[in-house]
Amino acid sequence: MKIKSAEFVVSNSDVSKCPKTRLPEYAFIGRSNVGKSSLINMLTGRKSLAKTSGKPGKTQLINHFLINKNWHLVDLPGYGYARVSKSSKKVFQKFITQYFSLREQLITAFVLVDIRHEPQPIDLEFMQWLGENGIPFSIIFTKADKLKPKAIENHIEAYKAILLETWEDMPNYFITSSSKSIGKDTVLDYIEQLNGN
Ligand code: GTP
Ligand code: MG
Repeated sequence: MKIKSAEFVVSNSDVSKCPKTRLPEYAFIGRSNVGKSSLINMLTGRKSLAKTSGKPGKTQLINHFLINKNWHLVDLPGYGYARVSKSSKKVFQKFITQYFSLREQLITAFVLVDIRHEPQPIDLEFMQWLGENGIPFSIIFTKADKLKPKAIENHIEAYKAILLETWEDMPNYFITSSSKSIGKDTVLDYIEQLNGN
């Protein structure tokens, strides 16, 4: 899919204020600093559409971006960031949970995981929660530029082994690097296919 236009629509912490259109949407979620906002910039080819930072906790709201005037990309705050206060963590969790539970336009969630790390309980638990709530998701491995191909393969095998303990099949997954623009076409073509155009 070619990206002809990408524009910021709205940021908010209240799911009821998200765009009311019925356009299909795709949400990016994962631990703080995993590279959600960078991936959105890479996919859209717009350097600073979504705000990124070396410090975890940059994205704090639900951010909608309108792509090609006919679908939405959604940048979400990261989970599992130890340095945000307990009360703000609760608020985050609440609106993220509400987002996934209430947003009927959501076609699929992309759960981002850093390819360098062993499978983390918080990510596995989040995938479990999506599954239990009937929310389709794919996994996006990020920061593939940081590992050699063999190490990437080993890490994916480790992921598969753990996921197949709970899931019948390995969820659909993608290997990406925002800094090297790896995986862009594969993810965009997948979205195009789900959009049915
Ligand atoms: P929060 O909004 O804080 O939850 O973070 P995020 O998941 O949106 O991460 P963000 O895109 O802000 O990126 C976090 C850091 O990782 C930044 O310093 C990015 O430059 C870096 N980063 C993101 N993607 C990649 C990648 O593919 N390769 C490398 N090497 N660094 C990356
Ligand atoms: Mg972000």
